[in-house]
Order: sequence, then structure tokens, then C-alpha cells
Amino acid sequence: MASTTHDRPPARTPAERLADRHARLAADPAAYWLDEARRLDWSRFPTRADESSFAQGDFGIRWFVDGELNVSFNCLDRHLADRGDSPAIVFEGDEPGESRILTYRDLHGEVCRMANVIRGLGIGKGDRVTLYLPMIPEAAVAMLACARIGAIHSVVFGGFSPDSLAGRIEDCGSRLLITADEGLRGGKRVPLKANADQALAACPTIEQVLVVRRTGTPVPMQTGRDLWWHEARELVRDTCDPEPMNAEDPLFILYTSGSTGKPKGVLHTTGGYLLWVAKTFDLLFGAGDDDLFWCTADVGWVTGHSYVVYGPLANGAATVMFDGVPNYPDFGRFWETCARLGVTIFYTAPTALRALMREGDQWVEAHDLSRLRLLGTVGEPINPEAWNWYDRVVGQGRCPIVDTWWQTETGGALIAPVPEATATKPGSATLPLPGVFPELVDADGALLDGATEGNLCLAQSWPGQMRTVWGDHERFFQTYFTTYPGKYFTGDGCRRDEDGYYWITGRVDDVINVSGHRMGTAEVESALVAHAQVAEAAVVGMPHEIKGQGIYAYVLLNADVPASDALSRDLRNWVRSEIGPIASPDAIQFVPGLPKTRSGKIMRRILRKIAERDTDNLGDFSTLANPEVVPVLIADSRA
Ligand code: WTA
Repeated sequence: MASTTHDRPPARTPAERLADRHARLAADPAAYWLDEARRLDWSRFPTRADESSFAQGDFGIRWFVDGELNVSFNCLDRHLADRGDSPAIVFEGDEPGESRILTYRDLHGEVCRMANVIRGLGIGKGDRVTLYLPMIPEAAVAMLACARIGAIHSVVFGGFSPDSLAGRIEDCGSRLLITADEGLRGGKRVPLKANADQALAACPTIEQVLVVRRTGTPVPMQTGRDLWWHEARELVRDTCDPEPMNAEDPLFILYTSGSTGKPKGVLHTTGGYLLWVAKTFDLLFGAGDDDLFWCTADVGWVTGHSYVVYGPLANGAATVMFDGVPNYPDFGRFWETCARLGVTIFYTAPTALRALMREGDQWVEAHDLSRLRLLGTVGEPINPEAWNWYDRVVGQGRCPIVDTWWQTETGGALIAPVPEATATKPGSATLPLPGVFPELVDADGALLDGATEGNLCLAQSWPGQMRTVWGDHERFFQTYFTTYPGKYFTGDGCRRDEDGYYWITGRVDDVINVSGHRMGTAEVESALVAHAQVAEAAVVGMPHEIKGQGIYAYVLLNADVPASDALSRDLRNWVRSEIGPIASPDAIQFVPGLPKTRSGKIMRRILRKIAERDTDNLGDFSTLANPEVVPVLIADSRA
């Protein structure tokens, strides 16, 4: 990468290099960002950097508006000369050893073929394409193929139900769906094509379905609508000119849960997003030619987008795509795979670490992890016990731990230690990266100084920030910029210690973080009330040893419907089929009524405390319309 630092004395240590970045940024932000932009290849290099505003009048997030580039070119073509024969994707299937390596040249060819196939189906710039796939290389191929021709991808996690898939297709009006015959997870089959067929009954915008063969199980193909990828790819060339895209042209939509309503289509654009994930991947993981990077996330989540696909490939790194689960065929799967493939950098979620930690150290110690040099975590706060275990048992005290705080909305990591430069503290995501300006405010929005605790906001834009909610720009503004006017509100609570380190305390809104996956309480509630025997439901988070948070549902049944364990099971299955297994409640409590204010609002604060078994200090609830239910709820919660 070109650099403009020749006239300065070389910075010596990583800490000094990081301090230098902060200083250059403070001195001249536009120059800093345009210099950073050089890490990408542009067909038209931008002359303008940040033109964002969080204020009502001229609200908008805009970066590098006169730049032009193509994401797939940046992830593939520009690496061909130097590393065409180096691994790009190292696929590891559900069964140990079901591996396949795609070099940059292989991946380039596959992406071009898929781009030609979907272009041949009439898909072009700005069209939406929904992906409902396992963690197979074709998922990355499909994402990059969309990027190559300027289509906007929307990846839907393969664990979501037909209904959830249909809702996400409908919202963005996709014309094409790319799916597979089946998925494989922990030895079990996931009927992706059958789910898709069910979803499509309600999706008139979908014209064609491209089906990847994963397991080979016969699936019905609808003539005129469905076609096989392995057949279509034979009929096209393996080259395809990349579509030049404006920096602010959309790259993808990814649905995520919020406090209210249906999941929002978070929209990321081409230039700023790619720059942010390329830069943060490099800064935090710095994978070189001898590294093999493994981020265990699924591409159905933002972590999979940014650090399985776009971040590593933009840097020419080798990235593992894992289509299995941490406990199959046994609890040593992660470590056996790290040893066999020679993984050097490993990035996972605290929930997985907690689950594995309790199975005992022998599962780790049985494998040679001497190649590991760096460890990362993401998705939820990591408790110091899990952090220390990760450090001691997995990292053998030798590997820095990079705890990365970020969100679907932020595109990539914002608060995280830079290895060797930032001293770590177990449980803290540490300090903001250059270009990130966190602020803590109290409930009234007053800025809090020094060591304190409050609501985490960001005072300025950064290139990877989401640009809008698909189809609802007003909702974007309302959701993130009106709670504390002039600031982006993250929805997280956070403590700042005397060293200025940030400690995320968890969501302060009605979002729960179950095993590192975001779930809106409103979504689970609306699934529950859609059940014929349910009158009302209220859902809150509860502490859960492995998952971080579990889902606690208070359910009021219709008159004359008796509560029973069978009904409880039935409701769990119902929610699984309405949303997906990740939304299945961990606890269901049948109630005679929900605590409500006189204006009819459910008092969630009380429900949360009961679910947390923290009922000594419930505060004043005498003004409720029905205070008498509270003692009943408490008594039943302990029964
Ligand atoms: C939480 C995942 C503490 C946080 C990348 C955030 C974290 C939500 C961390 C976003 C971390 C993520 N420490 N909490 N290192 N990383 N979170 O959109 O509550 O799926 O708001 O993005 O996860 O979840 P999302």
C-alpha cells in the first residue's frame, strides 16, 4: 500500500504507530481518510471524505461521494498477480476433514461465472438478490457475484424459518433467490430448498431461484423458476467485467432486530463499508502470507459479512469458512480443526467459549495449537472468567486477545485493542479505534465525563456506518438519532473506567442478545400472540450461563385454556417454526395478567427484575393498574 509518511521519522513500536494514526487524524481528518482510502483500488479516486451530518436539517451519512470502485475487484482481481495461487477460502464442512481450498484464481473464476449467470437472468445494478445458504464457498461466491454486477445482496441466516425468510424477501422486493438443496449442521439436515419453496408461496417478486447442490438429496425443481447452479455455471464464461460503482451505491442489506417492529434492513454502501472492514481487519488481525484466519461466524450475520468474507478478502488473506458447529462430532471440533488446518488467528463468540470451557480443558489440550498467534471475540460482553480461560488454555498465555465491540449498524469493529499496542483488561473492549468518538450520556442526554457509566453514543460518523434502513429513511433517523439529538445512539449501556477503557454492560433497549445473536422482544411477542391459545405475551432477557442472555416469556392464555407443560413445549415449537430455533424461549411463565400502567403500557422493568430474580428492590409499583399481579408473578417465577 502506498503511504505518505516518508518525510516523518519511522514510528518505532506498535503503540507509537497507533498514537501516530490518532494524531494524523486529529490534525487533518480529510487528509487522513483520503490517505486511508489508498488501501483500496478505485477506478476513480475520491477527492472528498466525510460529508455526514447527524442533525435533523441536513441529515445523512456520506463518505467519499465522488469515488468509484468495485468491491469484488478489490477482493479478487487486484490480488491475482501476486497471490492468484494462494488460498482465498479454506472450506471446512460439517464433517471433520471435508475440506476444499479455493485459491484467489479459483474464487475469481467462480465469482465471474456466477455473476454471468445472474446477469443472464436479467439481474443488474440496484436489483436485490436474497441468499439463503449454508456456510459453503458458494455463499461467498454469491455475495461477491452480486457485488461484481452491482446487485444488492440480502443474506438471510439459514436457521431462519420460511416465514422469516418471506418477510425479508418481501421487504426488499428481491427478484432472485439463491439457496441450496439442504444444509448440514452437526450431522443434521436443514431443508433449505423446502423452506424456500414454502416462503416463496408468499413472495411474488421472486422470478427465479438458483439452487446450489450441497447434499445431493433430490428436491423438487419448479420448471421455469428454479435452476441448478452446477448446470448453469457450465454455460458461462469465467470472466466478467466488474461494474463501476459509486462509493455510496448500496452493497448489501442485512436484516437485524431492533427494539420495536419487524427486523430492519440495515443498508451498507460500497466505499465506506469496504474501507472500514479492510482497515479494521488489517489493524486488528494483520494477517500476512503465513496466516490462516478463522472467524467462526455464519455469513447470515454481520460478523460473517465483514470478517469471513469482505475484510479478509480485501486484504488478500486466507479465510476459513466453517459449515459446522463447535460441539460436533465432539467438543474438540474447533481445536482439532485449528490444528489440522494450521489456523493462526481465531475469532469467535463468548457464548461458544463458555459452552466449551465447561466441558473441560482436555478437549483443547488434546490438540496442537502451537500455530495460533492471535485470538478474538465478538458479539456480546465476555466475562473475565471466559476471557482468562481463552487466554490461558486456548492461547497458552501467548496470544493477545482482541475483544471487538461493534454492531450490524457499524459495519466493522469500533472499540477494540490493537494487538501489541493496546494493553488489555479481561472483559473490556478497551479503547476506540482511530476515527471512533464514543460518548457516554445519562438518560437525559447530558454528557458524562471521566470514569462513569451511561448510554453509549457515537459523536461522529465513520466510514463503515450504515446509511439507511431499507425503504424507510425516516425510521433510520428516528431509531438512532433522536434519543440523543446530534448523536448516534447504539442501544448499549457502557462503563468507562479511570484509564478511559470501555466496558460494555449490554443492551439498554428491548433487544436481547442470545448467544451473541440479536433478538427483538417484540418479534418473539408477536410470534407468541399469533398462537391460537395465547391472549398476551411479554418477553424480556434473563441471565443465562452459556448464552449470556436467555429469552424469558410471560404468557397470558385465553380464558379457559389451562396452563400445562405440554402447552409450554407447544409454544416453544411454535416460536421455532415462526422465527427460527434461536428465538425459542428458555423460560415460559404462564401469568394471570401482565403488570400494566394505567395507560395500558406493560411495565417491563418489573418483568425484567423478576426474570433476573432480583426482586428485593422492585421500586414503586403501586401506581400500576393491577399491582396485585406482581406478588403472584414473583411467587410463580420461583415455583
Ligand atoms: C453486543 C455483532 C460487548 C452489543 C457484531 C451490540 C458486544 C450488539 C460486543 C450488536 C463486545 C457486540 N462486547 N457487547 N465485544 N460485540 N456486542 O448487530 O450489545 O449482531 O449492540 O453485531 O452485540 O450485535 P450485532
